[in-house]
Amino acid sequence: MASHTFKLNGEQITVEAEDDVRLLWVLRDLLGVTGPKYGCGLGVCQACTSHINGKAFNPCSVPVSKVAPDDEITTIEGLPATVGKDLHPMQEAWLDLDVAQCGYCQPGQIMTAVAKVRQAAAEGREIEDRDLDEIRNICRCGTYNRIRDAIRAGAK
Ligand code: FES
Repeated sequence: MASHTFKLNGEQITVEAEDDVRLLWVLRDLLGVTGPKYGCGLGVCQACTSHINGKAFNPCSVPVSKVAPDDEITTIEGLPATVGKDLHPMQEAWLDLDVAQCGYCQPGQIMTAVAKVRQAAAEGREIEDRDLDEIRNICRCGTYNRIRDAIRAGAK
């Protein structure tokens, strides 16, 4: 067991865990942050997608020992605070367009979408079809058309 320190949703935290425990389980089981969901555990399905230093990543694939003290982890729970509102515009678009069916994987999709929009903005361009194609996961509910519409609305 070792101490691991990092920033989580704006707060510096320290947690005791084995070095090889995946960050997803530290978040969910030790810290009670359950927005990131478990799907594949392999970095494929995007259900757990969160942000590290503003970029999308999959905490199911990262041992907690690889997270540095100055790394800033943001989960869906901390997303609204990044824009100083009760909801991030992407979350508002998700609600306005009634995207979710079962909703299980939606936090991961929203976090992926926000990262893609940020990346496009940093490159000085609008979100494009190629970005939207990369935001698919293995959602069985099949709400992809609404997901694409919501990402375009949330990017504005
Ligand atoms: Fe992390 Fe599938 S559970 S990518």
